[in-house]
Amino acid sequence: MRKVLGIIGSPRKLGNCELMVKEIANRIPEKHHLSLLRLADFDIRLCRGCYNCLTDNGNCKVRDDFPMVARAMAEADAFIVAVPTYFLGPNASLKLLLDRSMGFSEQVWGKPAVGVVLAGMEGKEGYARLGLLNFLSLILADIKGVEVVYAALPGEAVIEDKNLNAAKRLGAALFGHPLPKGSPACPVCGSDTFRFVDRFHVQCMLCSNPGTLDTSSGRPAFLINRSDHGFFLAPEGAKTHKQWLRDMKKKFSEKRKELKEAALSYLRDGDWIKPEKGVEPEEPGPA
Ligand SMILES: Cc1cc2nc3c(=O)[nH]c(=O)nc-3n(C[C@H](O)[C@H](O)[C@H](O)COP(=O)(O)O)c2cc1C
Repeated sequence: MRKVLGIIGSPRKLGNCELMVKEIANRIPEKHHLSLLRLADFDIRLCRGCYNCLTDNGNCKVRDDFPMVARAMAEADAFIVAVPTYFLGPNASLKLLLDRSMGFSEQVWGKPAVGVVLAGMEGKEGYARLGLLNFLSLILADIKGVEVVYAALPGEAVIEDKNLNAAKRLGAALFGHPLPKGSPACPVCGSDTFRFVDRFHVQCMLCSNPGTLDTSSGRPAFLINRSDHGFFLAPEGAKTHKQWLRDMKKKFSEKRKELKEAALSYLRDGDWIKPEKGVEPEEPGPA
């Protein structure tokens, strides 16, 4: 039986993210078992930027609950990821997880995944969809579909037919055909978010490739040129990227003295405000 892992970015119990994950899972036609991860239940700390994971069998020096989450992801066959919009972006849960994933991501490459963004106000999801796509792309998931669902109050997501239909589409797509991409999408990576560099030239905000906006056919299309690196697009690119980082680590060792000298001249600038000792982090209250 296929193992589906629901990754829930919201701390709210029985909130819209959780309900949508369960609703999507209920709509998967194939036989499966659903396991659930509420990211807020786990102590996942910030990546320290030490790159130890690049050289030490993927081992991360930070001691926290991250290995449990990584193990659950490695054991799953497919993912349903739901994240709430907070202040026009995905809440921090997915980013904390993604930033720590460098050492283990190869274990999850290629797994089918669907995603859903929850937002309380129509049109106010900001870059949350891009953030979720970014997470799924960078773990090199086989992205079968991402939808934005509007629901403010906990529970509201599953009382609207259009949200239930979105869940039905995503459930069917997880082990089936990918959903069609709606708005003009990047032909290289499938993202629909672009930055205008000038009047005609754009840059895709997911794969970073440059291109142009073409309106000649009457329907806008983005013509994006694949650059010679595909760092974040396919296993080969991800491996090249890791090698590039390892080379940078070597370069750092060679230039360490010069860099340290430059940095040390800033050492005494400013007064640091430090956390008070002995203050326990507050436990989150009931949702
Ligand atoms: C701190 C905070 C910030 C939010 N910011 C936005 C926002 O920028 N745009 C929006 O549409 N909804 C926003 N919302 C609403 C949530 O995205 C929405 O209620 C969602 O359904 C929550 O999912 P959950 O029930 O799984 O937590 C915010 C909610 C919170 C708690």
